[in-house]
Amino acid sequence: MGTDRQIHLSFSAHLSGHHPAAWRHPSTEDGSDVSIASYRRLARLAESGLFDLFFMADTPALRIENLESWSRYPLFTNVLEPLTCLSALAGATEHIGLGGTSSTSYNEPFNVARQFASLDHISGGRAAWNVVTTANIYASGNFGEIPLPPHAQRYDRAREFVEVVRKFWNTWEDGAFTYDREAGRFYDPDKMHPVIHQGQHFRIRGGLNIERTPQGHPVIIQAGASEAGMDLAAETAEVVFGSSPTLEKAQAYYAGLKSRMAKVGRAPEDLCVLAGMPVVVGESDDEAEDKYQTLQALLHPMVAKQKLGMDLETDLSDLDMDAPIPEDRIPAKANLHTAYFAEIVRMIREEKLTLRQISQRYERGTRTVRGTAKRVADHMEEWFATGAADGFMLILHLQPKGLEDFVRLVVPELQRRGLFRTEYKGRTLRDHLGLRRPPFQPPVSAAARAAE
Ligand SMILES: Cc1cc2nc3c(=O)[nH]c(=O)nc-3n(C[C@H](O)[C@H](O)[C@H](O)COP(=O)(O)O)c2cc1C
Repeated sequence: MGTDRQIHLSFSAHLSGHHPAAWRHPSTEDGSDVSIASYRRLARLAESGLFDLFFMADTPALRIENLESWSRYPLFTNVLEPLTCLSALAGATEHIGLGGTSSTSYNEPFNVARQFASLDHISGGRAAWNVVTTANIYASGNFGEIPLPPHAQRYDRAREFVEVVRKFWNTWEDGAFTYDREAGRFYDPDKMHPVIHQGQHFRIRGGLNIERTPQGHPVIIQAGASEAGMDLAAETAEVVFGSSPTLEKAQAYYAGLKSRMAKVGRAPEDLCVLAGMPVVVGESDDEAEDKYQTLQALLHPMVAKQKLGMDLETDLSDLDMDAPIPEDRIPAKANLHTAYFAEIVRMIREEKLTLRQISQRYERGTRTVRGTAKRVADHMEEWFATGAADGFMLILHLQPKGLEDFVRLVVPELQRRGLFRTEYKGRTLRDHLGLRRPPFQPPVSAAARAAE
């Protein structure tokens, strides 16, 4: 990063857009969610806007109850599996980073290490793994009906999971594959290091059957907002998606993360914080507001209740939209997204809002920035210059329209201010983000070696 520090840009490629009513908007296309042609267009559009990262969120679940509301709210329903989609996009793009979510609760480290290493090779060094613990009770039904473990346990497994994945990524030193036809040797055995790991969750005696990747290893992303999430991010993440609603909170989050890094011996520039930014851009402030309100008006009341109930971890379907949520409906504590839960509880208890008012205002920890390119760029510049973010993870309510507007209107404004690149300078995602290539680290811990 340094003095010529510039903003980094990513966006969450959720077709037809992030707003729960986006699919009802006339500009979106039926079936685009599973159309690789639509994803390809979106990725190329982002690449034409010189974005650092194309990101696909995910949860390995399908809602099979409450279909009255879920059939109106296509959250992670009818979507392409991220790794498969990103591999296809690797062939359709040249520069943009390709990030996807994979859960530490519903995978084995070997599979994740192998898939993302493959994507890094396929894309020539553009892969990134978003580490999530999956705060979703529906997911457990797809994996043997073992109940979703509590938050702390999920993070405990996640920490060890990431450690093991990194060990797998270090099975081979750079240049291990010598292809010595003369001597008849495919690789240099001295440069192959078995993964030997004995921990609480995983016992491994093996290795990854693919060479060290162009980026050393794929970029590790995390989006933890809780204490456990921030600790894991400080220890392991190279990109963090923030979700703070105000400048002050974002500054505190940013400083908190970077100081936690110091405690584990990491330099602050080894982590790039991308603040989650829901945004609607218009030619005028009024036009942007109209665009936003058009989507809000399309939100079905059942979807509003489902959406809030999900983060408050309770059923709100029988409640009156125009009355407050009764105190006895608030669970004692959150098990899923702690920060989102706390925000709703605050709106109920402190602001005393009705269900309808909360649903109009609640945005999962953020607030949509809406207005002209100048207004949006001012917001970004302020957050970037005052220690709240190294860049932004755009949450676009409507796609591809929202991305087109951003690339056409905001990107040139940021470039004019010298805040954003005018061309890609490097080849890999690490190059774009200014992250160093990690050196090889032997994948055997001292504890495991001692136990041999
Ligand atoms: C921009 C962004 C993207 C996220 N993507 C996913 C995702 O794809 N899958 C998922 O299960 N959680 C996702 N999350 C949720 C986080 O992983 C995390 O659970 C959440 O921020 C709450 O933090 P905590 O886990 O520390 O309580 C995302 C969060 C943010 C801010």
